[in-house]
Amino acid sequence: MILTARMQLRRFGLDDGHNLFALDDDPAVMRYLTGGPGTPRAVIDSEMLPRFIDAGREEPPMGFWAAESRVTRAFLGWFSLRRADAKTQAVLGYRLRRAVWGQGYATEGVEALIRRGFTQAGLERITASAYEENLASRRVMEKAGLRFTRRFRLTSADLAAADTSFQEGDVWEGDDVEYAITRAEWERRAT
Ligand SMILES: CC(C)(COP(=O)(O)OP(=O)(O)OC[C@H]1O[C@@H](n2cnc3c(N)ncnc32)[C@H](O)[C@@H]1OP(=O)(O)O)[C@@H](O)C(=O)NCCC(=O)NCCS
Repeated sequence: MILTARMQLRRFGLDDGHNLFALDDDPAVMRYLTGGPGTPRAVIDSEMLPRFIDAGREEPPMGFWAAESRVTRAFLGWFSLRRADAKTQAVLGYRLRRAVWGQGYATEGVEALIRRGFTQAGLERITASAYEENLASRRVMEKAGLRFTRRFRLTSADLAAADTSFQEGDVWEGDDVEYAITRAEWERRAT
Protein backbone atom coordinates (compact mmCIF):
# COMPACT_ATOMS: atom_id res chain seq x y z
CA MET A 1 0.00 0.00 0.00
CA ILE A 2 1.25 3.45 -0.91
CA LEU A 3 -0.34 6.46 0.77
CA THR A 4 -0.44 9.86 -0.88
CA ALA A 5 -2.10 13.00 0.50
CA ARG A 6 -5.54 12.01 -0.80
CA MET A 7 -5.23 8.45 -2.11
CA GLN A 8 -4.27 4.98 -1.12
CA LEU A 9 -2.68 2.94 -3.87
CA ARG A 10 -3.36 -0.74 -3.29
CA ARG A 11 -2.74 -3.94 -5.21
CA PHE A 12 -5.49 -5.23 -7.49
CA GLY A 13 -7.68 -8.14 -6.39
CA LEU A 14 -10.03 -10.58 -8.11
CA ASP A 15 -13.10 -8.44 -7.38
CA ASP A 16 -11.75 -5.35 -9.19
CA GLY A 17 -13.22 -6.42 -12.55
CA HIS A 18 -16.23 -4.13 -12.23
CA ASN A 19 -13.97 -1.19 -11.32
CA LEU A 20 -11.82 -1.65 -14.42
CA PHE A 21 -14.88 -2.16 -16.60
CA ALA A 22 -16.58 1.02 -15.37
CA LEU A 23 -13.37 3.01 -15.84
CA ASP A 24 -12.86 1.91 -19.46
CA ASP A 25 -16.59 2.17 -20.22
CA ASP A 26 -16.26 5.97 -20.56
CA PRO A 27 -15.39 7.13 -24.11
CA ALA A 28 -13.68 10.23 -22.68
CA VAL A 29 -11.30 8.03 -20.68
CA MET A 30 -10.53 5.91 -23.77
CA ARG A 31 -10.33 8.81 -26.22
CA TYR A 32 -6.55 8.70 -26.73
CA LEU A 33 -6.25 4.97 -26.08
CA THR A 34 -8.79 3.27 -28.36
CA GLY A 35 -10.55 6.33 -29.77
CA GLY A 36 -13.51 5.70 -27.45
CA PRO A 37 -14.53 2.04 -27.21
CA GLY A 38 -14.23 0.50 -23.77
CA THR A 39 -12.73 -2.84 -22.84
CA PRO A 40 -15.16 -5.79 -22.99
CA ARG A 41 -15.82 -7.34 -19.59
CA ALA A 42 -14.62 -10.71 -20.88
CA VAL A 43 -11.25 -9.18 -21.85
CA ILE A 44 -10.96 -7.53 -18.45
CA ASP A 45 -11.65 -10.80 -16.65
CA SER A 46 -9.53 -13.04 -18.85
CA GLU A 47 -6.57 -10.74 -19.71
CA MET A 48 -6.39 -7.34 -18.08
CA LEU A 49 -7.16 -8.11 -14.44
CA PRO A 50 -4.98 -11.25 -14.35
CA ARG A 51 -2.12 -9.18 -15.80
CA PHE A 52 -2.66 -6.42 -13.24
CA ILE A 53 -2.72 -8.95 -10.40
CA ASP A 54 0.29 -10.90 -11.71
CA ALA A 55 2.30 -7.70 -12.05
CA GLY A 56 1.57 -7.08 -8.35
CA ARG A 57 3.83 -10.02 -7.60
CA GLU A 58 6.75 -8.15 -9.12
CA GLU A 59 9.36 -6.86 -6.77
CA PRO A 60 7.90 -3.81 -4.96
CA PRO A 61 7.13 -1.12 -5.87
CA MET A 62 6.66 -2.24 -9.46
CA GLY A 63 3.33 -3.25 -10.91
CA PHE A 64 -0.20 -1.89 -11.08
CA TRP A 65 -1.94 -0.02 -8.29
CA ALA A 66 -5.65 0.62 -7.79
CA ALA A 67 -6.16 4.19 -6.58
CA GLU A 68 -8.79 4.76 -3.90
CA SER A 69 -9.91 7.89 -2.14
CA ARG A 70 -8.54 7.81 1.42
CA VAL A 71 -11.79 9.38 2.59
CA THR A 72 -14.52 7.50 0.72
CA ARG A 73 -12.54 4.43 -0.47
CA ALA A 74 -14.08 5.04 -3.91
CA PHE A 75 -12.13 3.56 -6.84
CA LEU A 76 -10.52 6.45 -8.74
CA GLY A 77 -8.50 4.56 -11.35
CA TRP A 78 -5.03 3.06 -11.56
CA PHE A 79 -1.33 3.78 -11.76
CA SER A 80 1.44 1.52 -13.00
CA LEU A 81 5.20 1.35 -12.85
CA ARG A 82 6.58 -1.44 -15.04
CA ARG A 83 10.19 -2.43 -15.47
CA ALA A 84 11.45 -1.74 -18.98
CA ASP A 85 13.93 -3.84 -20.94
CA ALA A 86 16.83 -2.24 -19.12
CA LYS A 87 16.71 -3.34 -15.48
CA THR A 88 17.20 0.15 -14.06
CA GLN A 89 14.46 1.69 -16.18
CA ALA A 90 10.71 1.68 -15.72
CA VAL A 91 7.63 3.01 -17.47
CA LEU A 92 4.75 4.86 -15.81
CA GLY A 93 1.07 4.48 -16.70
CA TYR A 94 -2.13 6.04 -15.32
CA ARG A 95 -5.86 6.13 -16.00
CA LEU A 96 -8.43 7.89 -13.83
CA ARG A 97 -12.21 8.23 -13.74
CA ARG A 98 -13.45 11.37 -15.45
CA ALA A 99 -15.24 12.49 -12.27
CA VAL A 100 -11.91 13.26 -10.61
CA TRP A 101 -9.95 14.81 -13.48
CA GLY A 102 -8.43 18.24 -13.08
CA GLN A 103 -7.83 17.97 -9.34
CA GLY A 104 -4.20 16.93 -9.39
CA TYR A 105 -4.78 13.24 -8.61
CA ALA A 106 -2.73 11.94 -11.55
CA THR A 107 0.21 14.15 -10.66
CA GLU A 108 -0.05 13.10 -7.00
CA GLY A 109 0.01 9.38 -7.85
CA VAL A 110 2.78 9.71 -10.42
CA GLU A 111 4.97 11.66 -8.00
CA ALA A 112 4.50 8.95 -5.35
CA LEU A 113 5.47 6.16 -7.76
CA ILE A 114 8.49 8.09 -9.02
CA ARG A 115 9.65 8.58 -5.43
CA ARG A 116 9.24 4.87 -4.72
CA GLY A 117 10.96 3.92 -7.95
CA PHE A 118 14.04 5.99 -7.27
CA THR A 119 14.29 5.36 -3.54
CA GLN A 120 13.26 1.69 -3.27
CA ALA A 121 13.60 -0.01 -6.62
CA GLY A 122 17.08 1.01 -7.71
CA LEU A 123 15.79 2.74 -10.82
CA GLU A 124 17.96 5.20 -12.76
CA ARG A 125 15.40 6.43 -15.29
CA ILE A 126 11.62 6.54 -15.49
CA THR A 127 9.70 7.23 -18.69
CA ALA A 128 6.07 7.73 -19.71
CA SER A 129 4.45 8.17 -23.07
CA ALA A 130 1.18 9.41 -24.51
CA TYR A 131 -0.51 10.04 -27.81
CA GLU A 132 0.68 13.50 -28.90
CA GLU A 133 -2.77 15.09 -28.60
CA ASN A 134 -3.28 13.86 -25.04
CA LEU A 135 -2.37 17.22 -23.52
CA ALA A 136 -3.65 16.41 -20.03
CA SER A 137 -1.36 13.38 -19.86
CA ARG A 138 1.59 15.39 -21.20
CA ARG A 139 0.93 18.06 -18.60
CA VAL A 140 0.94 15.44 -15.83
CA MET A 141 4.37 14.28 -16.98
CA GLU A 142 5.67 17.84 -17.04
CA LYS A 143 4.27 18.67 -13.61
CA ALA A 144 5.91 15.54 -12.20
CA GLY A 145 9.28 16.69 -13.55
CA LEU A 146 9.61 14.54 -16.66
CA ARG A 147 10.95 16.19 -19.79
CA PHE A 148 10.18 15.53 -23.42
CA THR A 149 12.63 13.09 -24.99
CA ARG A 150 11.28 11.87 -28.34
CA ARG A 151 8.40 11.37 -30.70
CA PHE A 152 7.76 7.93 -32.10
CA ARG A 153 5.17 6.02 -34.05
CA LEU A 154 3.56 3.09 -32.23
CA THR A 155 3.70 -0.24 -34.02
CA SER A 156 1.23 -3.11 -33.72
CA ALA A 157 3.80 -4.90 -31.56
CA ASP A 158 3.92 -1.92 -29.16
CA LEU A 159 0.14 -1.93 -28.93
CA ALA A 160 0.06 -5.63 -28.23
CA ALA A 161 2.39 -5.04 -25.26
CA ALA A 162 0.42 -2.04 -23.96
CA ASP A 163 -1.75 -1.84 -20.85
CA THR A 164 -5.00 -1.72 -22.81
CA SER A 165 -6.59 -4.24 -25.09
CA PHE A 166 -6.10 -3.08 -28.67
CA GLN A 167 -7.26 -4.58 -31.92
CA GLU A 168 -5.07 -5.21 -34.93
CA GLY A 169 -5.27 -2.09 -37.11
CA ASP A 170 -5.60 0.32 -34.19
CA VAL A 171 -2.33 2.08 -35.02
CA TRP A 172 -3.12 5.78 -35.44
CA GLU A 173 -1.88 8.41 -37.83
CA GLY A 174 -0.28 10.63 -35.21
CA ASP A 175 2.86 10.14 -33.14
CA ASP A 176 3.30 9.28 -29.51
CA VAL A 177 5.57 11.35 -27.32
CA GLU A 178 7.90 10.09 -24.62
CA TYR A 179 8.98 11.95 -21.50
CA ALA A 180 11.64 10.90 -18.99
CA ILE A 181 13.28 11.75 -15.69
CA THR A 182 16.58 10.40 -14.36
CA ARG A 183 17.34 9.75 -10.73
CA ALA A 184 19.85 12.63 -10.70
CA GLU A 185 17.22 15.00 -12.12
CA TRP A 186 14.68 13.84 -9.56
CA GLU A 187 17.16 14.30 -6.70
CA ARG A 188 17.90 17.84 -7.83
CA ARG A 189 14.17 18.52 -7.94
CA ALA A 190 13.49 16.95 -4.57
CA THR A 191 16.09 19.03 -2.72
C1 LIG B 1 -4.50 12.03 -18.16
C2 LIG B 1 -5.21 11.95 -16.81
C3 LIG B 1 -4.68 10.75 -16.04
C4 LIG B 1 -4.96 13.24 -16.04
O1 LIG B 1 -5.50 13.09 -14.73
P1 LIG B 1 -5.78 14.36 -13.79
O2 LIG B 1 -5.94 13.84 -12.39
O3 LIG B 1 -6.84 15.19 -14.35
O4 LIG B 1 -4.37 15.13 -13.90
P2 LIG B 1 -3.89 16.38 -13.03
O5 LIG B 1 -5.09 17.06 -12.44
O6 LIG B 1 -2.82 15.92 -12.10
O7 LIG B 1 -3.21 17.31 -14.13
C5 LIG B 1 -3.85 17.54 -15.38
C6 LIG B 1 -3.23 18.76 -16.03
O8 LIG B 1 -3.57 18.77 -17.42
C7 LIG B 1 -4.20 19.99 -17.73
N1 LIG B 1 -5.14 19.71 -18.81
C8 LIG B 1 -6.27 18.98 -18.77
N2 LIG B 1 -6.85 18.95 -19.98
C9 LIG B 1 -6.06 19.67 -20.80
C10 LIG B 1 -6.13 20.02 -22.17
N3 LIG B 1 -7.12 19.59 -22.95
N4 LIG B 1 -5.15 20.81 -22.69
C11 LIG B 1 -4.13 21.23 -21.93
N5 LIG B 1 -4.00 20.93 -20.60
C12 LIG B 1 -4.97 20.16 -20.06
C13 LIG B 1 -4.86 20.41 -16.45
O9 LIG B 1 -5.18 21.79 -16.47
C14 LIG B 1 -3.76 20.07 -15.45
O10 LIG B 1 -2.68 20.98 -15.51
P3 LIG B 1 -2.56 22.21 -14.45
O11 LIG B 1 -2.49 21.60 -13.08
O12 LIG B 1 -1.30 22.89 -14.86
O13 LIG B 1 -3.79 23.05 -14.61
C15 LIG B 1 -6.74 11.78 -17.00
O14 LIG B 1 -7.20 12.81 -17.84
C16 LIG B 1 -7.12 10.45 -17.60
O15 LIG B 1 -7.25 9.46 -16.91
N6 LIG B 1 -7.31 10.42 -18.94
C17 LIG B 1 -7.75 9.22 -19.63
C18 LIG B 1 -6.72 8.11 -19.66
C19 LIG B 1 -5.42 8.59 -20.24
O16 LIG B 1 -5.39 9.28 -21.25
N7 LIG B 1 -4.33 8.18 -19.57
C20 LIG B 1 -3.01 8.55 -19.99
C21 LIG B 1 -2.57 7.70 -21.13
S1 LIG B 1 -0.97 8.20 -21.72
